[in-house]
Amino acid sequence: MGHPAANVEGKKILITGGASGIGAASALLLAERGAKVVIADLSEQAGNEVAEQASAKGQSIVFHKVDVADGESVRALFAFAMEQLGGLDVVLNNAGIDHKPAPMHELSDDDFDRNIAVNLKGVWHCMRAAIPCLLPKGGHVINVASVAGLRSSPMISAYSASKHGVMGLTKSAAIEYAKANIRFNAVCPSFTDTPMVQNTLAQLDERAQNAIIKASPMRRLGRVEEISGAVAWLCSDESSFMNGHAFTLDGGMLA
Ligand SMILES: NC(=O)c1ccc[n+]([C@@H]2O[C@H](COP(=O)([O-])OP(=O)(O)OC[C@H]3O[C@@H](n4cnc5c(N)ncnc54)[C@H](O)[C@@H]3O)[C@@H](O)[C@H]2O)c1
Repeated sequence: MGHPAANVEGKKILITGGASGIGAASALLLAERGAKVVIADLSEQAGNEVAEQASAKGQSIVFHKVDVADGESVRALFAFAMEQLGGLDVVLNNAGIDHKPAPMHELSDDDFDRNIAVNLKGVWHCMRAAIPCLLPKGGHVINVASVAGLRSSPMISAYSASKHGVMGLTKSAAIEYAKANIRFNAVCPSFTDTPMVQNTLAQLDERAQNAIIKASPMRRLGRVEEISGAVAWLCSDESSFMNGHAFTLDGGMLA
């Protein structure tokens, strides 16, 4: 056996939004490295497909349906995960949505409310449910925020507000629970090639598409495996002194 980076063997990990994009890539990488993973998502079909991909290789991913915007649904998910895994070490709050780019005065109530309900209140629902599960032994909550949670994001202001809110929850909880050895960190990617971003690109003209792709000094989108590798390190004990911070993966955008 070699010495794999980011050893997560045997870790019990719950991932929301695990049926697609960054969540699915993280689930598959963690399971490949020996973690026991529950993925939860609104999308049953895609979630079951990710679980089947892992079990075909003898790896451990179980799917459970959730709507993170619904507190009761989240409570049921955590009860399921605790039972299924026999405890929890890491929770990756990754489920999220965006909205059609629009100047602030043209944003609809529906887009604003939905982004806050899923991206911000959804993460809070999951943090609230995770903490009692992690209190007995300690653990790690990793929230997927965004560079849009750290700086201005013209045309996606509701999304940006929701992600700034996630940073606030992350930093406050990091201090509240440090003594209990529960750590809270955020992952902040810039534009990464996932169905969410492909869907946004499809709604824009070529000039706006290029602006998104070239927003990073590396002049390309991030790849999901560039995010999941960082997530795996965060899930491992190697990250044990990181608490209350943003792990920014942006090709240098915020440098
Ligand atoms: N792709 C990017 O450029 C990028 C950049 C920064 C941050 N992020 C964040 O990364 C996370 C994952 O995004 P992605 O790009 O992989 O998107 P994605 O659309 O590929 O995956 C998101 C998943 O979340 C699920 N989901 C949405 N609403 C849900 C709900 N209410 N309950 C449960 N599941 C729900 C979707 O069904 C989907 O499977 C999001 O929080 C997103 O904001 C993405």
